[in-house]
Amino acid sequence: MPMSEPNIQEAVRQKYGEAAKRAAGGGSACCGGGAELSGCDPITKNLYDDSEKAGLPEKAVAASLGCGNPTALAKLQTGEIVLDLGAGGGIDVLLSAKRVGPTGKAYGLDMTDEMLALARENQKKAGIENVEFLKGAIENIPLPDNSVDVIISNCVINLSGDKDRVLREAFRVLKPGGRFAVSDVVVRGEVPANIRKSMELWVGCIAGALEETAYREKLSCAGFGSIDVEPTRVYKVEEAREFLEAAGLNADIVGPQIEGKFISAFIRASKPASAAACCGPACCS
Ligand SMILES: C[S@@+](CC[C@H](N)C(=O)[O-])C[C@H]1O[C@@H](n2cnc3c(N)ncnc32)[C@H](O)[C@@H]1O
Repeated sequence: MPMSEPNIQEAVRQKYGEAAKRAAGGGSACCGGGAELSGCDPITKNLYDDSEKAGLPEKAVAASLGCGNPTALAKLQTGEIVLDLGAGGGIDVLLSAKRVGPTGKAYGLDMTDEMLALARENQKKAGIENVEFLKGAIENIPLPDNSVDVIISNCVINLSGDKDRVLREAFRVLKPGGRFAVSDVVVRGEVPANIRKSMELWVGCIAGALEETAYREKLSCAGFGSIDVEPTRVYKVEEAREFLEAAGLNADIVGPQIEGKFISAFIRASKPASAAACCGPACCS
C-alpha cells in the first residue's frame, strides 16, 4: 500500500534528521539502504568544484546530499532573490548567496530541525549574512506570492508525496518571469515497480522520482513554460549492483530493464512574465 503524505514526510524527516546528526558530528551525511550500503556514491560525488568547496565550512560540504549543482547551472545574477527547496545543510544556499551578492538574498527552506540547526551553524561559520533559513514544508512555502526570482532545489522534489502542490507553490512564490532551476532524480520510460523502488531507494534514500513526461506535464499544469529537462548524470546498473542484490534482485537479469533510465537532471522552467500568482490551466489535479 502506498504511504500517505504525512507518513512520507515523517519518514523523510527522520532519515534526514539522522543524516544531519552524522554530518554535525563530523561524519558524512550519506544515506542509502543502510549504514553498510551507502547510497551516496556516485550520486553525491563530485558535484562541486574545488573553488566552490574551498569557500565553505567543512560541515556544509560533508552534509551535501544533492544530485546536481543547481546554483552553478541557474545563471544567478547580482541582486536576485533565490529560494532553495529542501536546503539541507545549506550548501546551495551559501553558494547562491555568494553569487547574488549583498544586494540579493538566498532563502533555504527545510522541514527537518536538525538540518536547519546544521545549516544555521554553517551560515555562521561562513560569515555570510544575506541568507535566511526558514522552517516549513515545500508543499506549503512560507513566503508571499511573487516574491522570488529563482527557485533552486537539489534532489528534494522527488521526496515529496504531493509534487503537484510543490510545483504550484513554486509557481505562486516566483515573480512573473521568475525561473525554476532544479536538480532532481528523474526516470526515463517505464520500469517495473519493484525494480523502480529499489533503484530509487539507492538513488534517493526514499522512493518517489517522477517519470520525465509526467514531470513536464506537472510543470505545465502548474503554469510553467519553457520547460527543459537536461540529463546531468546517467546511473549505471553496475553502480547499483550491490544495492540491488541486497534487495533480492539479480542485477544481471534486471539490468537491461533499467540501464540508462535513472538519471539526475537539471530541470528548467519559467513563470510567464504576464502570469498571475496562481495557477496553471484547469488540467491540474
Ligand atoms: C536529499 S536532502 C538534500 C539536501 C540539500 N538540498 C543538498 O543538496 O544537500 C533532502 C532535504 O530536503 C528536506 N526535505 C525533504 N522533504 C521535504 C519537504 N516536504 N519539505 C521541506 N523539506 C523537505 C530534508 O529535510 C533534507 O534536508
